[in-house]
Amino acid sequence: ENTQLKDIVAHAKEYGFVFPSSEIYDGLQAVYDYGPNGVELKNNLKQLWWRAMTQLNPNVVGIDAAIFMHPLTWKASGHVDGFSDPMIDNLDSKKRYRADVLLEDKAAEYENAGDKPRADALLAEMGKLLTDNDLAGVRQLIVDEKIKCPVSGTANWTEVRQFNLMFSTQVGSVEGDSTLIYLRPETAQGIFVNFLNVQKSARMKVPFGIAQIGKAFRNEIVARQFIFRMREFEQMEMQFFIRPGTEMEWYNKWKETRRRWHEALGLPADKLRFHDHDKLAHYANAAVDIEYEFPFGFKEIEGIHSRTDFDLSQHQALSRKKQQYFDNDLDEATGKPYGNYVPYVVETSVGADRLFLAALCQAYTEETITEGEGEKEQTKTRTFLKLHPALAPIKAAIFPLVRKDGLPEKAEAIFNDLRHDFRLVYEDRDAIGKRYTRQDLIGTPFCIAVDHQTLEDDTVTVRHRDSREQTRMPISELGRYIGDAVSF
Ligand code: GAP
Repeated sequence: ENTQLKDIVAHAKEYGFVFPSSEIYDGLQAVYDYGPNGVELKNNLKQLWWRAMTQLNPNVVGIDAAIFMHPLTWKASGHVDGFSDPMIDNLDSKKRYRADVLLEDKAAEYENAGDKPRADALLAEMGKLLTDNDLAGVRQLIVDEKIKCPVSGTANWTEVRQFNLMFSTQVGSVEGDSTLIYLRPETAQGIFVNFLNVQKSARMKVPFGIAQIGKAFRNEIVARQFIFRMREFEQMEMQFFIRPGTEMEWYNKWKETRRRWHEALGLPADKLRFHDHDKLAHYANAAVDIEYEFPFGFKEIEGIHSRTDFDLSQHQALSRKKQQYFDNDLDEATGKPYGNYVPYVVETSVGADRLFLAALCQAYTEETITEGEGEKEQTKTRTFLKLHPALAPIKAAIFPLVRKDGLPEKAEAIFNDLRHDFRLVYEDRDAIGKRYTRQDLIGTPFCIAVDHQTLEDDTVTVRHRDSREQTRMPISELGRYIGDAVSF
């Protein structure tokens, strides 16, 4: 199965989706750059998320907070003291691992061998030890499970230590006058510290949400599986502020809403599942992941967390500024207004890069087709990206069949007319079959060919990426046709 991931990584590079960062210097681990097609696909994902949040929910508004935040933010949020992963070193190979990942891999091994109860028991034991911060216990579990270093094959392990994932840097140019600050490890805190600014300026009433898309940074110990786990990545988060006591209702509602959204993007229901956390993050009282079945197994793409009033209360304590909301709705039980309280929060948090990888893995298709007839018949493998048209980097390609007889001029006129509404390409070189193949490889849903008949009756052929079928259509209908297909 991982051969398939290799193919996808190679495809992503060759066709301008994702490049390793600083590649001419042999790259930088767990950092990637998006190419011309990648940035379009990623922007489409972000735009669809933004619209689903802020346009379709009248009670959700957006912000764009800075990456740098006051250092006390991360003290309040618990990240300075608690945002760490348990790491362990192997003395022979001098390789560093995440202790929890070694145990999760072992559990996956049991599950693959058909022993799910043993896998579950191992995960439960690990979750308990980590919740208790019993690092010696975690090491003992690794020893008891006879886990070997994947590189050296030995079980020569050090103790387990906590490794903080935040990157830090200095602000201020004068030595001795500089302040240690962190690159945000989640976008959420920019929302929490702006809770009252937004609530007051936008005149929001609880329940309401604040959405944000932005970069986050984590010094991940293990970097693997392409853009699944990066050191610099993008999050799309929405914090939903609610009255205490209503959190389970909203938690369940957002769980379902978000799952349906992933299905609408084209991730099939049988490749999505909910996974309750074995170990709750320091801020959560309920947490679930939406997992997608990647070529390397079911893995988290989105987290939905009930964060209670943890964050706002912490910020209230450290900033000494009240983080309260006055609710003048009447409590049916008492007949009086609910009054002042620190709202609870249910958050939805999805990684734009992980979602990109899921969309790419889902779209990557290899099929065997037969071409030509009689003597010329041949079978070959066709690779194409079966992306939802709303996600496709290019919505349509316009091709004159030949570069003469006025066909290029006609094709250019169509291109110039439609390009105000859609991202298009115009291509007149190479045989038309080759041009179709190039568009298949980047997931363009429609190829529009201008031929001699076009000059007579103003119709073109529209070739469909998935079926390879061609239909004839008046030029005047193209705009509406493509528009309908790419709408979401
Ligand atoms: N505010 C909550 C929060 O940050 P999280 O589960 O740590 O929760 C949310 O992260 C999402 O961010 C994940 O589901 C994943 O999609 C994405 N994410 C987290 N770490 C990542 C990394 N190192 N590389 C890429 N995406 C990551």
